[in-house]
Amino acid sequence: MSDLLAKLYPGHLQTLQQHADAALARGGFEHLLIASGVPRYQFLDDRPYPFAVNPHFKHWLPVTKAPGSWIAYTPGQKPKLIYLQPQDYWHVVPEAPAGYWVEHFDIVVIRESDHAVAHLPKNLARCAIIGEDNAAVGAIKPDNPPAVLNYLHWQRAYKTDYELAMLRVASKLGARAHRAAEAAFRAGHSEYDINTAYLNAVHETENELPYSNIIALNQHGAVLHYTDLNRAPPAHADSFLIDAGANFHGYASDITRTYAAAQAEEFQILIAAVDKAQRSFVEKVKKGQDYAALHIHAHHALASILREQNFIRLSAEAAVETGVSSAFFPHGLGHMLGLQVHDVGGFQKDDSGGTIAKPPGHPYLRFTRTLEPRMVTTIEPGIYFIDMLLAELKNKPQSKDINWDKVDKFRRYGGIRIEDDVVCTERAPENLTRDAFAAA
Ligand code: GLY
Ligand code: MN
Ligand code: MN
Repeated sequence: MSDLLAKLYPGHLQTLQQHADAALARGGFEHLLIASGVPRYQFLDDRPYPFAVNPHFKHWLPVTKAPGSWIAYTPGQKPKLIYLQPQDYWHVVPEAPAGYWVEHFDIVVIRESDHAVAHLPKNLARCAIIGEDNAAVGAIKPDNPPAVLNYLHWQRAYKTDYELAMLRVASKLGARAHRAAEAAFRAGHSEYDINTAYLNAVHETENELPYSNIIALNQHGAVLHYTDLNRAPPAHADSFLIDAGANFHGYASDITRTYAAAQAEEFQILIAAVDKAQRSFVEKVKKGQDYAALHIHAHHALASILREQNFIRLSAEAAVETGVSSAFFPHGLGHMLGLQVHDVGGFQKDDSGGTIAKPPGHPYLRFTRTLEPRMVTTIEPGIYFIDMLLAELKNKPQSKDINWDKVDKFRRYGGIRIEDDVVCTERAPENLTRDAFAAA
């Protein structure tokens, strides 16, 4: 693997430098400075929150645990890494820079964070400084110029071959751990123990994962971001929704599967229909596909399933128009994925900024751009039985067209979500998740 990454990395770096050149020109700057970031502390305490590196920093090099470091790039020059390795016997000091990326940087090791100032450009008015406010050293304060960020965020959507290789590994790690979690569910374990099985298999700490695992048995699947972990197994585990990913050098996978217990055949029938629909949406991850239109298409397809399986009596069209489909599918079809699980730039109109509006009535969609090769998106439709939304539906005129007996029977299963990570290519989509499960 590291041979492949070593081979692909120079091209990745070259692309980043071209993008940085253009972004600096847009903003009228001469230098790009990127702070890795500094941990934040809990209020009135000496405990830091888990450190999350600036995604712009890890875009340039596979280093996620080096607070207080900086990248300085000037067009036409080798990028410079100012690397903080403090003298510290309380904490682990970041390892000396090593690996395939090192030869591509001029590296200066500093022992104190404010020593960075001596190695960064002096003409600060000519610097675009990307980072959080607490990363400031001396007069060097992150200012995140919008013209620069908009350009970089736009380009972040198009993954380099190196990034696609990273994302393939992140998917493989996630799929392997999903298998372990499914086995723990089938063995009757609690949410807490299923999560432990996942962590053991993915071999990452909770802080290293790209997001908090969702490990939901039975009706907990109806809580979209359920992150409690019940310590005791339920008397009957009829259904299991798991949304969990993995991190590979700062790149994320984001995977959801839903399983029915052997005795829950009626739920398995619904899962199979959502799975089939999900695969048909993945097939539409093609150049020129408007993602918001795909989201609306998914609403129609899921409403058809609800009608075919006798949850609703309305036509799919009427269910979508009246918001009934949103009571069962109340989130977006997906989002861009990469350095962040919800990657930036999902609504951007072009490389200078702007916003492509969400379709009215769909406030939780996170992605409205048109798909193009090298974009990576999730496709994550769902059907849920959420008490709060069903109570609202009960008060609407369409309530009479809902088969409440069947809907009520399904509340115990919580819901279904099936989520794959998909690369848009010049030809057929590449399904990172299904490929990873097939290889697992
Ligand atoms: N795991 C968060 C999401 O699916 O968007
Ligand atoms: Mn997702
Ligand atoms: Mn997810």
